[in-house]
Amino acid sequence: ISFLLYDFLPLKQRERIILFLEVHMKLFLDSANIEEIKRANEFGIICGVTTNPSIIAKEGKDFKEMIQQMTQIIDGPISGEVKPTTEEAKDMIREGRSIASLHPNMVVKLPTTPEGLKACHVLSKEGIKTNLTLVFSVPQALLAARAGATYVSPFIGRIDDISMDGLQLIKDIAQIFKIYNLSTQIICASIRNAYHIIGCAKTGADIATVPYSIIEQMVKHPLTDKGLEKFKNDYIAVFGE
Ligand code: E4P
Repeated sequence: ISFLLYDFLPLKQRERIILFLEVHMKLFLDSANIEEIKRANEFGIICGVTTNPSIIAKEGKDFKEMIQQMTQIIDGPISGEVKPTTEEAKDMIREGRSIASLHPNMVVKLPTTPEGLKACHVLSKEGIKTNLTLVFSVPQALLAARAGATYVSPFIGRIDDISMDGLQLIKDIAQIFKIYNLSTQIICASIRNAYHIIGCAKTGADIATVPYSIIEQMVKHPLTDKGLEKFKNDYIAVFGE
């Protein structure tokens, strides 16, 4: 079906086509906690992991060891960030190569700074996957895409925290990437609630990276609990245990 024609189709038909093409927003887990990664993986809903220096520091364990454990659980992209103390591109490149050598699924996470962009440019040319993080504006996302980033990570929650609209940023980036057919994938980051996930999915973003607590929020609904309780009581009343 031509994409020109697609734009004129009613919403219902578009949804069917999207399902048919199996285009959907993937979920990554935003955590370095091995137990959380195992639990989320058992749900069968996550296909990647993102970490950052704060998340890694929270666990307080050896970076390489943690990454190796993750690669044994998750068969998908795992973002490992260069140290926040690494400031120059040449050092980011060296560190990035070492992160990439840990496992074929590794993605090198770099800050969206001039030095980060330089490192992204070099690493991408070497075929190393990159994730440009701490993206707070459309121009930053565009520069990251132009530098060859595999992924960009715009931070929704931290934008909301300064009374701006985080989801609007995702919408704008998604729209512009689509217009110019840019292959860089959008990882919606800094997700604080299930509403953010709905908003991200509506923009057609590729991925949302979610803390484990939000996955718990997503599955929970008071009417599900209430309904299950009623099913249980009705069943027991007639059939016993
Ligand atoms: C993304 O890759 C980051 O790890 C993360 O989403 C940051 O979220 P926060 O703003 O809740 O720390």
